[in-house]
Amino acid sequence: MSETQSPPEAEIMTIPLNDDLVQRIIERQGVDVRSASIREMNALVNAIEGECNVRFVRMEFGIPGLPVNPLAIEAEHEALSKLNVGHVYAPFTGVQDLKDEASRFAKLFMDLDLPSNCCVPTVGAMEGCFASILLASRMRGEAKSMICLDPGFPVNRLQMRLLGLNPASIDFYDHRGDKLLRAVEDRVKQGDVCGIIWSSPNNPSWIVLQEDELKGLGRICDEYGVLAIEDLAYFGMDTRKDYFVPGEPPFQPTVLRYTQRGISLVSSSKIFSYAGQRIGLAFLAPELMEAEDPGLVERCGTANVGHAFLHGGLYPITACVPETPQYGLLALLRAANSGNRDVFRPAQEYARRARIMKPLFLENGFKLVYDNDLGEPLSDGFYFTVSYPAFDHGADLIRVLLRYGISAITLETAGSSRVEGLRACVSLTDDSRFGELEERLKAFHADHPIP
Ligand SMILES: Cc1ncc(COP(=O)(O)O)c(C=O)c1O
Repeated sequence: MSETQSPPEAEIMTIPLNDDLVQRIIERQGVDVRSASIREMNALVNAIEGECNVRFVRMEFGIPGLPVNPLAIEAEHEALSKLNVGHVYAPFTGVQDLKDEASRFAKLFMDLDLPSNCCVPTVGAMEGCFASILLASRMRGEAKSMICLDPGFPVNRLQMRLLGLNPASIDFYDHRGDKLLRAVEDRVKQGDVCGIIWSSPNNPSWIVLQEDELKGLGRICDEYGVLAIEDLAYFGMDTRKDYFVPGEPPFQPTVLRYTQRGISLVSSSKIFSYAGQRIGLAFLAPELMEAEDPGLVERCGTANVGHAFLHGGLYPITACVPETPQYGLLALLRAANSGNRDVFRPAQEYARRARIMKPLFLENGFKLVYDNDLGEPLSDGFYFTVSYPAFDHGADLIRVLLRYGISAITLETAGSSRVEGLRACVSLTDDSRFGELEERLKAFHADHPIP
């Protein structure tokens, strides 16, 4: 090639992509699409995009796609440049102002009276879940099973595996209301359960546990001495209701209203679009914080549950949460607590996208797998779940959808019993891609007529 010649443009392949080529890339990547983790699927889609020079509509990854609120950026900058925090360790239990503001937040948006010492920053809800699962695994002797209200966040399964726990699945698909509570209580009665974990709004079905269900779960946890781990990674994002007027109902539904043995994890990643700075909050029930459990002594060096969580769990994992994001989150909580609704804007944006994207799937033959919330329509949000008639397995469906430049993960990966389904995330798809998504779904539908 002469110096003036530019390299030939890689050929842009047409959709649907060549089947053999896509299957070869899948094999080369060594990915089993049936159980591929989010990151494996992400790497696979990168490889197909690169080789075929086609930009995918990426629905596999739950990355918040919206810019960080400038309030948080300014606060972080100021913490570094004026408060000079970078060279020292942050307080291990969290910056006091943040803990105080988090306590106000719990009152104003969850209607909970939580003293500041029960509000603990963690390195994302991810670390909060890990430390909570760890705590549960040590609190009931030989009880090493954890009930997962499924579908769920696939990483929690990895955390349980790492900690040597057995996941015991109860699926929301056929367990809601009293039926859910009966199934949970029957399973807990077997005696080997140390905790119950769920997310609500649920990743990925987007169902939201109702007060009666939370009340029942809280009672079971108190009665049988198991730990409730409530993952509020999508805090307030049930857009059927307005949870964002401080001090006014409705309040974010939470099991902490109903149990003394609960931890709620609030992530700042989604609701504040602040994922990269890795900060969340763990809210511990005050009674749990003070409780004593001799089972903790061996691994955590103390019987006091709060101390074990902080100094036996979080401290050896990360020592503390980096300090500048603590100031960033403090600024966001302050704004929220004083009625600035702008900080909650991401919830509306994801719902708006889902309101456009979900119908595109449904108009082209797809069905919602989790299609109602205790008989009510689901809220629009970060995820929805789909299947397509005649595809009995989500792995087969995703293998074909990849040829149409659309990615997702199987519901099986999310612990769901609905193996036919896929989880689709709206966060990375903005208005500029809706046209392409529609075209691709139409092409898929035309090529796969429903008998
Ligand atoms: C249910 C659930 N929990 C936790 C997380 C991770 O949250 P964070 O970024 O705060 O660690 C996610 C992220 O996708 C999630 O969906």
